[in-house]
Parts: sequence; structure tokens; C-alpha cells
Amino acid sequence: MKRLGGEIEISGMKNSALPIVYSTLLINGKCTVDNIPFVNDVMLSLQILKHLGAKVDIINSSCVEIDTTDISLCEPPMELVRQMRASYYLMGAQLGRFGTAHVCYPGGDDFGMRPIDQHIKGFESLGAKVNVSGGYIDIEAPNGLSGANVFFDVVSVGATVNVILAAVKTEGVTIIESAAREPHIVDLANFLNTCGAQISGAGTDTIKITGVKELHGSNYTIVPDMIEAGTYMVAAAVAGGRVKINNIIPKHLESISAKLLEMNVTVEEMDDYVIVSREGELSSCNIKTLPYPGFPTDMQPQFAAALCYANGVSHISEGVWDNRFRYIDELRCMGANIDVSGRNATIKGRPLSLTGAAVRAIDIRAGAAMIIAALGASGRTEIAGVEVIERGYVDIVGKLSAVGADVFKLGE
Ligand code: UD1
Repeated sequence: MKRLGGEIEISGMKNSALPIVYSTLLINGKCTVDNIPFVNDVMLSLQILKHLGAKVDIINSSCVEIDTTDISLCEPPMELVRQMRASYYLMGAQLGRFGTAHVCYPGGDDFGMRPIDQHIKGFESLGAKVNVSGGYIDIEAPNGLSGANVFFDVVSVGATVNVILAAVKTEGVTIIESAAREPHIVDLANFLNTCGAQISGAGTDTIKITGVKELHGSNYTIVPDMIEAGTYMVAAAVAGGRVKINNIIPKHLESISAKLLEMNVTVEEMDDYVIVSREGELSSCNIKTLPYPGFPTDMQPQFAAALCYANGVSHISEGVWDNRFRYIDELRCMGANIDVSGRNATIKGRPLSLTGAAVRAIDIRAGAAMIIAALGASGRTEIAGVEVIERGYVDIVGKLSAVGADVFKLGE
């Protein structure tokens, strides 16, 4: 196994960039969005915006200018919308801008059931009529939208974003109860507030939105990607050595750092960087994924891969998605000893170890987990579907090889 050493720069948060890009549909004027990660899902979203008539100019490797002043109401292209989950933000954004929306059902990673009933409940609370049929979602507001209290039955990132998008220019006050508290919700609210919105409480479970008539353009810098940072922290933990991870917000990484400490990994947190190092062997631990500030479900596969190398038995309980263990079969191809029962997985680690094999990236984070598993494995691992991983990670191959990992893209 090759130990890692050196520095990695973290890019802007994909799950902030997506709602922020779609939210520009609500704005009259030019927005400059900096620290934007040009991963495949973000590029696809910018393409969708262009189809709707937006002017999109890529200024440099992490900055884009978007002007949606001249967009008109038209159907976003199905072949693009179906490629990603976050295209469901078109519902809230079109509704907020035009008072109506017609969007096909989104695609994206398959974690089991991905209902949108809470999104619909939110739109209906604001006075919209929603009809889902033939793979399309039609949203009308014959009597206009008005501010209201929205009560979600489950904590949903997507539904919270969509209600913010629909409500931000809706007359009156909207209060979202049981709102998601993820840093990307805060980032979206901060962005919209720089454009003239009146949103308070983002980051708590109650968000208040006072509708404004117009939103204007602004310059905004997206926060660092906590899941990208967490992924490299786990990679360093598995490979060993010492890696400095720059451009992070330690507060966002608290639950991840805490688990790594339990696993006998050293995590030194500074203002905007973290140093991860490991000398001794990894210890087992138990994980339950939960909405933020709980342990993120989007770090679950990466930790499962790492725990294959830990002494003892670890348990993971998936608290967000019905079916987020499909990738375990890929780890088993490498020799992992993991039992899955419903939303629970039991991982038996050392003295067993993993061996390189041909595996697949079945979704973004599962693909990252395969890379982490491969870093610790003896022999060579070939991961099919690198483009799936690139939907969520900026230059993951380049960033890892810069710290000494033996990883490259076949055919390049
Ligand atoms: C977002 C993230 C995804 C992450 C997830 C949870 C993006 C683009 N994706 O997905 O990577 O894994 O948050 O942190 O940001 N639910 C319902 N009804 C709904 C909506 C959701 O029952 O209308 C349920 C889901 O089935 C799931 C839970 O709520 O069990 C959380 O889903 P949600 O937070 O909405 O996830 P996404 O926003 O789709």
C-alpha cells in the first residue's frame, strides 16, 4: 500500500452549486458565482439553463456568469433532466419565476424510493395545484401563490430548497417547519439574500421567507464541499501518511472528524484546513447516518470501504435512504466480508484484507468508495464508470495522484 503525503485543495460544494445555479432562474440580472465546481452534474444544469434561454459564460476554472433576464417559459429538455436528480429544482424555480412549471420526472442516483411528495406538499401549501402523470409534473397556480406555513413530514433537502425557490418572490411570509439544516441550504439562502431576498433561519429547522418583488444579480462564492473533503480524509486514513486538506470549514466536518478519531486516525483541525494522518492500525466503529448535523449519508459508502481495513466488527445503520447498500456487492468482489440486512450492514475487518478486482462505480459516492477500497487493497483495481464519479468530484484522479496515490484514468 502506498502512503499519501502532500496537500489537496477542496472545490466548491456540488450540492450548493446545483440549487444556486437553478435559483438564478428567479433573478433579473447577471450573477457571478465563484468557487463553483464544474463537475458533470453542474455542467448539465448549466446546459439546461442555456436551453431555457440563459446566458452562461464560464470565466475561469471555478467561476461562471449567469444571466437569466431573457429566459422564457419552455419545457426543459427531457434527455438532460432525466440524467440527474437536482433537475427537480426546476419545479420550484419555474414556479417562482412564472407561476407555473412543467417538468419531467428527474433521474439521478438510485438509493431506492426517491419520492417527491414533500416537494408537492410544499407547493400545494403555497396555493399551487400539482398534477403528476405520464412521467411529468405539472404545477399551476390559478389564483397565484401566497406565503404560508409549510410542514414537512420528513426532513428533505430537496423539498426545503424547492419551497425556498417557490416562496422567495411570493407575496407574504412563508415559514418552513422541519426544514433541512444542511450547509448547502444555508449557502442557497445566503446567495439569494445577496440578491435581495429576505430569508432567515437557514441552518435551523425553521426557515422564514418574506416574499420580495424582485431579485437582482450579485457576486457570490460557494462554500467548500464537505463531502469531497470527507472523502479525501477517509482516503488518507486508509492509505496512511499525512495529508493537508485545504479550503474547508471544520464545523461542517465535525461528524466525519469524530468518526475518524474513533477509528484511531489523527485529525488536526485549523481555521480553514485539516491535516489527516495515520500511523497505527484502524479501529472499528459504528455509524448511523442522519440528516445534518448527523453523520452524512453521502459519506456512508466511503466509510464502509475504510472499515473493511479496521480491526474488529463495525456496524452501519443507514437512516436516510431505503437502499443505499447496493455497492456492497462491488466491495465483496474485492473480498470484503459484509452482511447486509435492510438498512443495516455489519462489516468484518482485519485480519481480512481486500484484493484488487474489476468493480463498478454504481453512483457518485459508491464510486469514491471503490477508489478508497482500492487504495488499501493489494494488487490492481479497475473501476468502470469513472464518469459517474465525475458527476460529483472535480478531478479526483488528479487530486489523489498529486498526493502520491497510484491512480490514473485508463485510456488517457
Ligand atoms: C440530497 C442530496 C443527496 C443526499 C440527500 C440526503 C443533492 C443533489 N442530493 O438529496 O446526495 O444523499 O440530500 O442528504 O443535494 N423524501 C420523501 N419525500 C420527499 C423527499 C424526500 O419521503 O418528497 C425522503 C427520501 O426518500 C429520503 C429522505 O427523505 O429518505 C431524504 O431525502 P432528501 O433530503 O430529499 O434527499 P435529496 O434532496 O433528494
